[in-house]
Amino acid sequence: SSSKILIKGGTVVNAHGEEVADVYVKDGIIVAVKPNIKVGDDVTVLDATGKFVMPGGIDPHTHLSFEFMGTETVDDFFNGQAAALAGGTTMHIDFVIPVSGSLTAGFEAYEKKAKKSCMDYGFHMAITKWDEVVSKEMEIMVKEKGINSFKFFLAYKGALMINDELLLEGFKKCKSLGALAMVHAENGDAVYEGQKRMIELGIFGPEGHALSRPSLLEGEATARAIRLAGFVNTPLYVVHVMSIDAMEEIATARRKGQRVIGEPVVSGLALDGSGVWDPDFVTAAKFVMSPPIRASGHDKALQAALSTGILQLVGTDHCSFNSTQKALGIDDFRNIPNGVNGIEERMHLVWDIMVESGQISVTDYVRITSTECARIFNIYPRKGAILPGSDADIIIFNPNSSFEITAKSHHSRSDTNVFEGRRGKGKVEVTIAGGRIVWENDELKVVPGSGKYVEMPPFTYLFNGIDKADAEYLSSLRAPVKRFKSTD
Ligand code: URP
Ligand code: ZN
Ligand code: ZN
Ligand code: ZN
Repeated sequence: SSSKILIKGGTVVNAHGEEVADVYVKDGIIVAVKPNIKVGDDVTVLDATGKFVMPGGIDPHTHLSFEFMGTETVDDFFNGQAAALAGGTTMHIDFVIPVSGSLTAGFEAYEKKAKKSCMDYGFHMAITKWDEVVSKEMEIMVKEKGINSFKFFLAYKGALMINDELLLEGFKKCKSLGALAMVHAENGDAVYEGQKRMIELGIFGPEGHALSRPSLLEGEATARAIRLAGFVNTPLYVVHVMSIDAMEEIATARRKGQRVIGEPVVSGLALDGSGVWDPDFVTAAKFVMSPPIRASGHDKALQAALSTGILQLVGTDHCSFNSTQKALGIDDFRNIPNGVNGIEERMHLVWDIMVESGQISVTDYVRITSTECARIFNIYPRKGAILPGSDADIIIFNPNSSFEITAKSHHSRSDTNVFEGRRGKGKVEVTIAGGRIVWENDELKVVPGSGKYVEMPPFTYLFNGIDKADAEYLSSLRAPVKRFKSTD
């Protein structure tokens, strides 16, 4: 691949607008965006006439090489990223899981896993227990390791779940560090009760998973997390918003001016929950994720919320297991590893569902697949834009071509795909990552180790004015009432 690339004649789309222009890339950086750029013959020229030239996708939510529920995801930091690049995503943010509660050990483990990366990546960190060591480690993660977000699990009782006391401690710590608190919002105690109900009723199949954790439990946990974040006055990011119940809580909070971000994922936007009712176990089990993919209607409502700005960006929660791994739960849905694919499919499906359907503009597409993520995690305009000085992470998208999704042709190592058979208009024809052409003519040219770790600084725009709000709150409190003993 050449270190100099000229993309000629395309419609360059940023979240802030579009224009017909050439894009000149040198040594991994975009150096010019303007019409009629002239270059020498040492430059690789790509003709983008009639096509869109857009920032590569940024997936805010993935799990590569994730050890979970007694097994490990099939997609690692090399092949999962290769799949992403084939689908037009050029950066992802993965979740570091602490090792025996140690953030430092977790970070080191993920640093190792990510050594073979072929695209840029960042990390969120999960918080699964609380003590002075964890509190100190959070500070180290933010100040020295480039992490500016922490995920708290209100579900997975007995494993990753934390209680409200820890959640409050975590929120306070996040606020003091300028880090964004994220929540997996399902009531884990109630899910546990729901699972017992299913077992009592003799429901052991994949449908029991969805039935045991209905959307009201997602609504409850979302409402609770929002109110506790409001109590602490710190911004909140709700990951994988799967239901109307959760979305409406986010809508209400945002209407009142609270800083809450909602992330739907492509499985929740593109599918309904009928898959888990398939009589074939493997076909049903591949759809098992948490929170579950909901009944028909939630998908459309989430799309509408995305188009009106109630929800801000789209992730995948890519967490891929194969049929053999899903079969760990053949006798009991509680043992089916939770997770679905999406890292390769997100850009195509969001285009099809949101743009092709007429729900959003092309500039909005760039915002929800790339720019908003870069802004929220404080790496804009290095990422999420086609501007001079930005990293050369670019896709050439042909709106008149088409895509088709099959497990046979996808780049994940899984033998199944939850979007099997989906077709639509639009196709990522070229992906440029870090200034290299990595996807062209349906072929990957990826290099292990070429992906860079992207440090994300704290105190995003979401924190602007929070001190002032706190000061106003304090000054609104009356002075303590002086009381005297009745005997005085
Ligand atoms: O089912 C899911 N979502 N698996 C990945 C872990 C998580 O909760 O994000
Ligand atoms: Zn070359
Ligand atoms: Zn989660
Ligand atoms: Zn996840």
